[in-house]
Amino acid sequence: MKSVADVNEPQLDNQENLPVVLTSELRKVYRTGFWLNQKVVSLKNCSLKVYKGETFGLLGPNGAGKTTLLKSLLGIIRPTSGRGLLLGKPLGDRNIKQRIGYLPENPYLYEYLTGWEFLELAAGLFQIPKDIQHQRIPQLLELVGLSQNDARKKKMRRYSKGMLQRVGMAQTLINDPELVFLDEPMSGLDPLGRYQMREIILSLKKQGKTIFFNSHILSEVEQICDRIAILTQGELICSGSLNQLLGNADKYHIQGQGGDLEILKKWLPDIEFESDGYWQGQLEGDYYDFLASLRLMNGQVINMKLFRLSLEEFFIQQIQKRKYG
Ligand SMILES: Nc1ncnc2c1ncn2[C@@H]1O[C@H](COP(=O)(O)OP(=O)(O)OP(=O)(O)O)[C@@H](O)[C@H]1O
Ligand SMILES: [Mg+2]
Repeated sequence: MKSVADVNEPQLDNQENLPVVLTSELRKVYRTGFWLNQKVVSLKNCSLKVYKGETFGLLGPNGAGKTTLLKSLLGIIRPTSGRGLLLGKPLGDRNIKQRIGYLPENPYLYEYLTGWEFLELAAGLFQIPKDIQHQRIPQLLELVGLSQNDARKKKMRRYSKGMLQRVGMAQTLINDPELVFLDEPMSGLDPLGRYQMREIILSLKKQGKTIFFNSHILSEVEQICDRIAILTQGELICSGSLNQLLGNADKYHIQGQGGDLEILKKWLPDIEFESDGYWQGQLEGDYYDFLASLRLMNGQVINMKLFRLSLEEFFIQQIQKRKYG
């Protein structure tokens, strides 16, 4: 399989398609300990781009630095060095807060309020007029699958983890943001809840919003992301579209026998030879042309399948490669 370390970004920057998230060599070192004399390097020179309308997934093991990166983008923490732009403005610029939504990893929800009161409070912070609030809050409750009854009558201290996550998501969208940051949006949700969260994210995507999210749930990421990046020990080790990273679903992996080895190498650049004259590899080129060529050299296909790693397989491969070389 091709190396992914140097996969290029798919789009070119131009006036219409400027990145909405752009970072250059972002680095964060936390100082800890009583005398603040211990250093924890959480981000090491992270450079990435996310374009308008993309759904971008940031993956990485626990402690990789995902939340740190997200908080740096949002201006919640200040990077130690490096630069970044969000919607064309420097990180931390207050003027773009209205255009951004953020679901934190562990949202702090005022437990003595009902979900409805909490959403009204959030709407008030954005100075959303009352008449718009009264339209938008029921719409958002419907979108996140929280019943009006629960939202109006129950205090949030009586909500389940899944209900809290839903009300947190509604709060994230209260200002109708164009750029949405979600830190582990599927966390605490049961399979139905995860499915609904996926549908919500897809509906936001349909509305043209840009979504940047951190997640451990790779099967969900695989279904909704246009592009991903993997962060481990503070370093971005690869980024790209799923097709670029996992292999194209229209490429064939072929096992066969016989034929001229030199010609076979042209069709299957990563060919591996096994005992008894068997070989296997990923086909570059048209399958039927290959079959015709193989017939001429007295070879035959034993097995053929479409080639694509699952995101989970790819993720584990990348992390292990990094760990063990
Ligand atoms: N406020 C802080 N002070 C000191 N170290 C911190 C602080 N916040 C995070 N760290 C450290 O920075 C590193 C990255 O943490 P971060 O929370 O960004 O990881 P993460 O990828 O979001 O992990 P998870 O998947 O568990 O949410 C960890 O080693 C963590 O201990
Ligand atoms: Mg985190």
